[in-house]
Amino acid sequence: MASVLEVGDLRKSYRLGDETVHALDGISLEATAGEFLVIMGASGSGKSTLLHLIGGLDLPTSGEILIEGQDIASMSDRKRTLLRRSRLGVVFQNFNLLPTLTAIENVALPSLIGGSRNGSSQTRARELLESVNMTHRESHRPQALSGGEQQRVAIARALLNDPALLLADEPTGNLDSHHAESIWSLLRNLVDEQQRTVIAVTHEPVGARFADRIVVLKDGKIVGTINDSRNLDATLVATRYTELAR
Ligand SMILES: Nc1ncnc2c1ncn2[C@@H]1O[C@H](COP(=O)(O)OP(=O)(O)OP(=O)(O)O)[C@@H](O)[C@H]1O
Ligand SMILES: [Mg+2]
Repeated sequence: MASVLEVGDLRKSYRLGDETVHALDGISLEATAGEFLVIMGASGSGKSTLLHLIGGLDLPTSGEILIEGQDIASMSDRKRTLLRRSRLGVVFQNFNLLPTLTAIENVALPSLIGGSRNGSSQTRARELLESVNMTHRESHRPQALSGGEQQRVAIARALLNDPALLLADEPTGNLDSHHAESIWSLLRNLVDEQQRTVIAVTHEPVGARFADRIVVLKDGKIVGTINDSRNLDATLVATRYTELAR
């Protein structure tokens, strides 16, 4: 399988006065095309830092991050912006939709910013809304959507440019368990039916078991991997995770 992501000895430190915080302390990780990877870890273990670096939203102290073979950490700002726009999709806990735009306008927004013609982006946005089961809500503004529906719209928007890698930082952190489960199941479908590659951060064993593989972080290091997550129930995932993160 082709490697979509290769992370090599990644480090990120922050200096705060006399103290240095090693948010990431030598992470090496790979994701292949069509793989669904979940990152788990306690608060402060470095999950968001890792996802932000992979997404090119921040730069590491050292190490490499190859997206389809290109090192996003060492390229020019301009190249990084282009790569981010064309090959990466990012979804956050708080959805980040624009309140004044309808669902379909929110999905089409990145291509309008990128200079595409209105008609073609409308068609593509509609297809994407259909793929996340949101066609019936395309004219709704975010405030007229449930949290789960807003996250579906945000996922559709992240897929607009057909990214090689979809990154999600606690995508269900603001949702109740019912909506959360439907978002995990949607991410699973994107992998199974559209051969997307997904990396998601979560605290929730119920969601993590939708992934092919769970990587556990502690104090900026990988302390273990659960490879057979899809065969485990949530209780077993929680037990294995607790053992690794202890
Ligand atoms: N800008 C910053 N300056 C200094 N320290 C930071 C900064 N950003 C993050 N850190 C520190 O780096 C460590 C990892 O933070 P990170 O946000 O990656 O954790 P996390 O695993 O995502 O936690 P949570 O589950 O609470 O979201 C933490 O100790 C945090 O305090
Ligand atoms: Mg975080």
